[in-house]
Amino acid sequence: MKNIKQIINSEKLNIPVEVKAWVKTFRNDRFIAVNDGSTIQNLQLVIEPEKFDENIRKKINTGAAIYAKGELKESLGKGQKVEVLVDELEILGESDPEKFPIQPKRHSLEFLREKAHLRPRTTLFGAIMRVRNTLAFAIHEYFQKNDFLYVNTPIITAADAEGAGEMFQVTTLDLQNPPQTEEGEIDYKKDFFHTKTNLTVSGQLEAETYAMALGKVYTFGPTFRAENSNTTRHLAEFWMIEPEVAFMDLHGDMDLAEDFVKYIIKTVLEKNREDLEFLEMRLKNEEKQKPQNERSNWSLIEKLEFVLENNFKRLSYTEAIEILKNSKPFKKKKFKFPVEWGIDLQSEHERYLVEKHFKSPVIIYDYPAKIKAFYMRLNDDGKTVRAMDVLFPGIGEIIGGSQREERLDVLLKKMKELNIDAEELYWYVDTRRFGTAVHSGFGLGFERIVQFVTGMGNIRDVIPYPRFPGNANF
Ligand code: 4AD
Ligand code: MG
Repeated sequence: MKNIKQIINSEKLNIPVEVKAWVKTFRNDRFIAVNDGSTIQNLQLVIEPEKFDENIRKKINTGAAIYAKGELKESLGKGQKVEVLVDELEILGESDPEKFPIQPKRHSLEFLREKAHLRPRTTLFGAIMRVRNTLAFAIHEYFQKNDFLYVNTPIITAADAEGAGEMFQVTTLDLQNPPQTEEGEIDYKKDFFHTKTNLTVSGQLEAETYAMALGKVYTFGPTFRAENSNTTRHLAEFWMIEPEVAFMDLHGDMDLAEDFVKYIIKTVLEKNREDLEFLEMRLKNEEKQKPQNERSNWSLIEKLEFVLENNFKRLSYTEAIEILKNSKPFKKKKFKFPVEWGIDLQSEHERYLVEKHFKSPVIIYDYPAKIKAFYMRLNDDGKTVRAMDVLFPGIGEIIGGSQREERLDVLLKKMKELNIDAEELYWYVDTRRFGTAVHSGFGLGFERIVQFVTGMGNIRDVIPYPRFPGNANF
C-alpha cells in the first residue's frame, strides 16, 4: 500500500488507491483531511454523504484511524492537487472528540509538552521530526562518504570525560542499605561492575583510542549530563555526534566542522522544503508577537542559506575579548556577566559576537586552559589550549572541539594538576605511550542543530521525550 507522500506525487490519475491514516479534520460532512506522517501534506478524501451510513460518519473524528479505498482524482478545490473519491471507508480506531486533546487549532508549545505522546500528531511536530530524521541521515551520509568509521562507544562508563562531575550514577546497590568498606564508605567493589559507574557525558575518550588505530571515526549516541540547567538549550539526555581524526590539527578540525555542518543543513534544504516552509511560517507568526526591535530580519530559510553561502568567522578567544570590551553593551554596562581575559564566555557574549558584531556563525579558538577540559593541547604560550567552539545565531555554542594533548608528559602533568587519576585512565594515556600523534575532534549537540534548522526556541521541542530537571515523564 502506498503512503500519502507517494499518492500525492503519483504521476497517474484516475487509478484506484487505498490509504490508512489519521483524521485531521472533517468538514461539510464531505471532506476528510487525513495524514499518515509521510509528508506534511494532508490527503483530501471526498465522501458522498448519502453513500455512507450515519453511524460511520459520526465516527470520522479528529484523531481517528481510518482506512479508505477509492479513486485518485484531480482536485477541483483549492489547496490540493489531488483527492480521493471514496468508495469504501472503515473506521480502524475511534477517537472520542470530547477527549482527544489535539484539536484542529493552534495549541501552545507548553500544552503540547504535557501531551508529548500525542504531539507527533500535530503538523508542527511531524515537520520537526522529519527534519530531525533527515539531519541524522545526513550526518551518517557525510561521514560515510568521507571514509569515517562509525563506532559505538559505551553508555555506561567509569570515566568522566569532561571532568565536570555532572554525571548520573548507575548502580544496582540497595540505596537503603549499601554495603560499606571498613572505613565506612560505600563499597563499590560490591556494585554490579565492581566499581563506581555513571552514564557517559561524552564518547570522546574511547573514540580517541579508535581514531588512533583506524584514522577517522565518529560516534553518534546518547549522552547524559546531570547539570541543573533549566534553559532552552540544555537537556539532561541529548544526542551527540563526535568525529575524531588522527593526524589532524585544530585548523583541520575547524575546516571539518564547517564543511560538515554545511553539508547537513544543505541536505535538509534539499529534502524537507515543505517542512521548512511550514516551520518558517510558524516562526514568522511567533516573531510577530515580539516587540519590533527583537524581531529577526531573516526568514528561516534565508538564515539557513546564509550559513551555507558564507565562511564562518574565525577568531581567537583573545580577539573575542577585545571585541567585547570595545562593544556598546560592555561600555554601557549592559552585559550581566563581567568581560575580562580568562572568563568563560556567557551566552550573552556569544550572542553579541554572532548576532550583532559578525552577523554570521563564528568559530572561537585558543581558549584559556583554565576554563577547558584536561585533554586539550596546550599552546606554546603556556596559558591557552587548542580548543574551538562553533557559535550559531540564536543558539550560541553548537559545537565544542579541540586538538588533543598528544604529549605524554604534558598530559600527565595536567591530569595530576586536576586530580584526574592517570592509573584509572591508563587506557587513555596508553594512546600517548604507543604511537602518539597529533589528533583532533569535536562534538556537535544534535538537538542544538535540530533547533537551529527548525527555528524552534526551546530544545525540549526538538526531541520526542525531553529529560530535564524534574521531568522524566513518558
Ligand atoms: O562542548 P562539549 O561539552 O564537548 C564535549 O563533550 C567534547 N567531548 C566533544 C569532543 O570534542 N568530542 O559538548 C559538545 C556539544 C556542545 O557544543 C553542545 O552543542 C552540546 O554538545 N551539549 C548539549 N546539548 C544539549 N544539552 C546539554 N546539556 C548539552 N551539553 C552540551
Ligand atoms: Mg563546550
